Amino acid sequence: MFAQVNDLNMFYEERGDPQAGPILFLHGFPFDHSMWTHQMEAFSRTHRCIAPDLRGHGQTTRLSASGASARPAVTIEQMADDVIGLLDHLGLDRATVCGLSMGGYIAFALWRRYAARISRLILADTKAGADSDEARQNRFRLAELVKAKGASAAADAMLPRLFAPGNLGGPAARHIRQIIERTPPDQIADTLHALAARPDSTGLLDTITAPCLVVVGEHDAITPLSEAELMCRRAPLAGQPVVIPHAGHLSPLENPPAFNQAVADFLAHGMGNGE
Ligand code: MLT
Repeated sequence: MFAQVNDLNMFYEERGDPQAGPILFLHGFPFDHSMWTHQMEAFSRTHRCIAPDLRGHGQTTRLSASGASARPAVTIEQMADDVIGLLDHLGLDRATVCGLSMGGYIAFALWRRYAARISRLILADTKAGADSDEARQNRFRLAELVKAKGASAAADAMLPRLFAPGNLGGPAARHIRQIIERTPPDQIADTLHALAARPDSTGLLDTITAPCLVVVGEHDAITPLSEAELMCRRAPLAGQPVVIPHAGHLSPLENPPAFNQAVADFLAHGMGNGE
């Protein structure tokens, strides 16, 4: 389905009972809604599940795409505004927000600007800190490489760090490579700049009064357990991180049963204060 949101024709998948409690799934970079396929399947039995393609990703396009030189800069805050626009379009005041990596950065931006719209937070394979100078320079280099060589250069550079070593040759890794290779290189480059410019959200953690689940893949090399532990120490209602075995940075795809169990336990027992 598509919704006109801000300057976007925004694609989203929706499944489940429209009257049930909503869960909004925010994908990582540079993927699309389909990374949540196992969660949409499982949680649409009990919840209204919504998974958009975020700005610059998947089937979501700008309504008035003009020439490359006229492309405005993309920001994580703008992606949060898009998400709020989608909630408005769907008539939803509040939702449980589940964000992976970049989706988690967007969840922080949502909390900063629209905390009343979040009933619960699921932070998967993400971190609160901003990029180091070195990480920023690496993003700028990758952006130039992708513009020169195409999206497969991003897939080549990123895949080995996204998956646990044993999962790199599997169907999930092939699926993710396809998604990355379908993404226009200039959009990958724009998002890399948005990621590099995102603010530090560490201080924000102290203010997160929503029930919060923190999940991390055992072999996550991009946002490791130490980052999950930091988020749990600071966010008042976060408890302990749940470590997903046999998974790297893409724990919902690499070990769906363990990821879904963690989310189901949280939804059943976490202190929800209503959707
Ligand atoms: C993601 O999965 O969204 C990316 O790894 C985020 C990042 O590069 O910081």
